[in-house]
Amino acid sequence: MEAIRVATAEDHQDLGKQLGIVALRPGPSGRAGAPNEANYDKAEANPFPNLPPLLRMENGKTVKSAKDWWQKRRPEIAELFEKEVVGRVPPNAPRVTWTVRESETIQVGGVDVLSRKLVGKADNSGYPSIDVEIRMTLVTPVAAAKPVPVMVMFTFGGGSPSEGMRQLVAAGWGYASLTPSSIQEDNGAGLTRGVIGLTNRGARREPEDWGALRAWAWGASRALDYLETDKKVDAKRVGIEGVSRYGKAALVTMAFDTRFAVVLVGSSGEGGAKLHRRNFGEAVENLTSSGEYHWMAGNFLKFGAEQASFGSKNAGDIPVDAHQLIALCAPRPTFISYGIPEKGDAKWLDQRGSFMAAVAAQPAFQLLGAKGMGMTEMPEVNVSLLDGQLAWRQHDGGHTDGPNWKYFIPWTDRMTKLR
Ligand code: GCU
Repeated sequence: MEAIRVATAEDHQDLGKQLGIVALRPGPSGRAGAPNEANYDKAEANPFPNLPPLLRMENGKTVKSAKDWWQKRRPEIAELFEKEVVGRVPPNAPRVTWTVRESETIQVGGVDVLSRKLVGKADNSGYPSIDVEIRMTLVTPVAAAKPVPVMVMFTFGGGSPSEGMRQLVAAGWGYASLTPSSIQEDNGAGLTRGVIGLTNRGARREPEDWGALRAWAWGASRALDYLETDKKVDAKRVGIEGVSRYGKAALVTMAFDTRFAVVLVGSSGEGGAKLHRRNFGEAVENLTSSGEYHWMAGNFLKFGAEQASFGSKNAGDIPVDAHQLIALCAPRPTFISYGIPEKGDAKWLDQRGSFMAAVAAQPAFQLLGAKGMGMTEMPEVNVSLLDGQLAWRQHDGGHTDGPNWKYFIPWTDRMTKLR
């Protein structure tokens, strides 16, 4: 652990140097009662008056049609996210070859399923000293008479099937649990290894290089490549899901790979569905700290700079915000899920900041002929906004999307059939 901490600190400092950063602003603390505890006062939560425009192009023209969106505005937004926020997938990202390692019939929630353990080996002929083997377990109901829809789920790996997995199988779905750490380690020290390290031939990142969120999303896309070849899978109805840091990764996956039909974004917070332009709970300065910067593009570090060759920057200088990341998913069904602080889905996540981002993303869904949430006021806990392709539900449980699956599955069935 200590070795990882030291190597992470070195990498973090190196990146700061590359960017001309002298000092980063420390992030607020998530610990109750700490002297630098994060703000939770609503009156101070919105220090930035405006969000970057969703439907206005960089040349100032208004986006008036779906064609303008697909051909002009969407690529502009995606480019800004790649350059400044999540980083770029490099042109030499490896090919991945999938192999089934084990196959057995087991039961999930009393239903017979075929469980296959797969390994996706990245082509490392360009740099053989780094090996990347993506681990995925694909579970499909034995009794299915036709190809089934499948949720790709970012999971910590191991353990018994989650609430979501059991409900998916009961509803006739399959799932593929994907182990993010087999794609890219969850720390800064690991950036010279994993798929990011492989494409950099063991060297450190440069500012526009991808971070772990984008690398995990890339891995999910390679999982989908495999699913597209599997006759048991309805590849037109493959979704992506994750909670917390993997909720962020699920949103990034959906935003950048339009083959994914649906997303369940669980408790994603800062760096996920929550607006950066908020002063409530976790902040940009936490994402730029040594504990989290590896999730982001190298360039993202600039927005936490207090003193640098370019002066200083903060959340208000990020050229895009979370509403635009959500809008990149439009018009595909996008479900934003949270729990409640009383049960452990901390205030730190800023549930309201995500609701605000979803509201601000609605015009993109509407422009593309989809329906938004139909509301701009944040609803009470347990009130579902599931009439449209952009959906919201804050359940009364903790830091999990478990209680929302029973709403998500029928909503998805309805929405993906509309396509
Ligand atoms: C921390 C972090 C969050 C993150 C969460 C998690 O709380 O601040 O941004 O989502 O860990 O992934 O568990």
